[in-house]
Amino acid sequence: MPPEDPTRKSLRELGATEPVAIAWLFTQLRVRLSAELARASEEGGWDKVRDSWVGIGDTVSIRVATNWVETAPEQVRLLVFRERENLIEFVNIRLTVMQTLQDLGYTSPEAIPPLFQKLSGAFDGEIKACVDEIDLGVSRVNWVGRRSGVLTLITDNWLKPANPELKRTVGQELNKLKAHVESTLEARKRDVESLAERGASAKDRVDLSLSGVIRPIGTHHLIRQVFQEIEDIFFSIGFSVVEGPEIETPYYNFEALNIPEFHPVRDDMDTFYLELPKGAPGPLLLRTHTSPVQIRTMEKRQPPVRVIVPGKVYRRDNPDATHSFMFHQIEGLAVDSDITFCDFTGTIDYFVKQFFGESVKTRFRPSYFPFTEPSVEFDVSCVFCGGSGTANSGGTCGKCKGSAWIELFGAGMVDPAVYGFVNYDPQKVSGFAFGIGIDRLAMLKYGIDDIQAFFQNDVRFLGQFP
Ligand code: DAH
Repeated sequence: MPPEDPTRKSLRELGATEPVAIAWLFTQLRVRLSAELARASEEGGWDKVRDSWVGIGDTVSIRVATNWVETAPEQVRLLVFRERENLIEFVNIRLTVMQTLQDLGYTSPEAIPPLFQKLSGAFDGEIKACVDEIDLGVSRVNWVGRRSGVLTLITDNWLKPANPELKRTVGQELNKLKAHVESTLEARKRDVESLAERGASAKDRVDLSLSGVIRPIGTHHLIRQVFQEIEDIFFSIGFSVVEGPEIETPYYNFEALNIPEFHPVRDDMDTFYLELPKGAPGPLLLRTHTSPVQIRTMEKRQPPVRVIVPGKVYRRDNPDATHSFMFHQIEGLAVDSDITFCDFTGTIDYFVKQFFGESVKTRFRPSYFPFTEPSVEFDVSCVFCGGSGTANSGGTCGKCKGSAWIELFGAGMVDPAVYGFVNYDPQKVSGFAFGIGIDRLAMLKYGIDDIQAFFQNDVRFLGQFP
């Protein structure tokens, strides 16, 4: 044995503390053993091989026990222990199958089956210990390898040189062992495959029984939902949607709507004017209502016109429960050659009933807007107290303050003066217009008492309107 024999050193000295390095050391031992066995089969000296590997005293197996197993790091000690057991088994089997039966001292057929039984048992033990395809591959080579697998060695060393009285039994037993080895390898292969699959499944496979990552699906903001609801109602009676700019000129926002520069209603609209670079044409402002799009539409289209205009509007209001510097409107405009006040009230009544339900009542009161004549304010019977003015608790309804009516929005027949700005002939056309505050309508319909809730983006609020 050369002095640099690794079994004389500890695993730490060999730098082999990882499973891969340890397996490699044992593989090298097997290679060395095979070389020694090959030499022995040429020159004899089986006993010397046996003694130096698995005998008593200073043998490979004892050195492995003391230098490797006992000093192995805790986490690989069991592995080293098993590898040693396997090595000893390997030595014993190889020593047996590389000698002839005669050398081994077998002369009677009765002794043959127990001999094969022992081999078969050793094989079973080895296969049972295989946990993956790598282990199994090593065992396969060990047993059915064509050049020096155990079965080949038995054929060459036991069967072929056997004397006639043993040959039959050896042949039969060998065939049995071969069949057993092959079927067992096959079965174990399926086992480790499914084992590997199960192992992989833990890591990679989708477990359909798990609840999974719940990714909440967003929905439209309540304001957007109400827009769509209102748009649908007007679509159903022949209106279409148009849009206009949020930054407007005073002409569209005021003048063309019959609100001249010093008209007092301008004071009602605390307006955001834009600061413009010197020399830029201006002034410009954030539109205070969607009504300018009436003008823009009529400039572009000839009657009949039936449009609604959803959008954002801006006013310099201080935020409170009913005011916001930005809110939403839907403008409506219908102009044709023969539109009457009845068409107007009928349309509005239809819309309100579609939106709040058939049971509500509508009414209109005279009002004033510079761009409609006559102008009205539409009311709906209070949706909270059912138009009774009395709350469920018996007291006065807080929402309509006992009046039984709730003010909804302004509207009217388009003022003939407006047609003058868009080159329509007031003698030939007539129409109506309305401007609905969306936030207010949403608050009424869904019982929301603070307009700020729409803009705070609190998902606990938003999530209530899926
Ligand atoms: N533009 C008005 C406002 O924001 C609302 C309005 C009233 C619009 C009457 C109309 C209308 O089209 O006819 O207060």
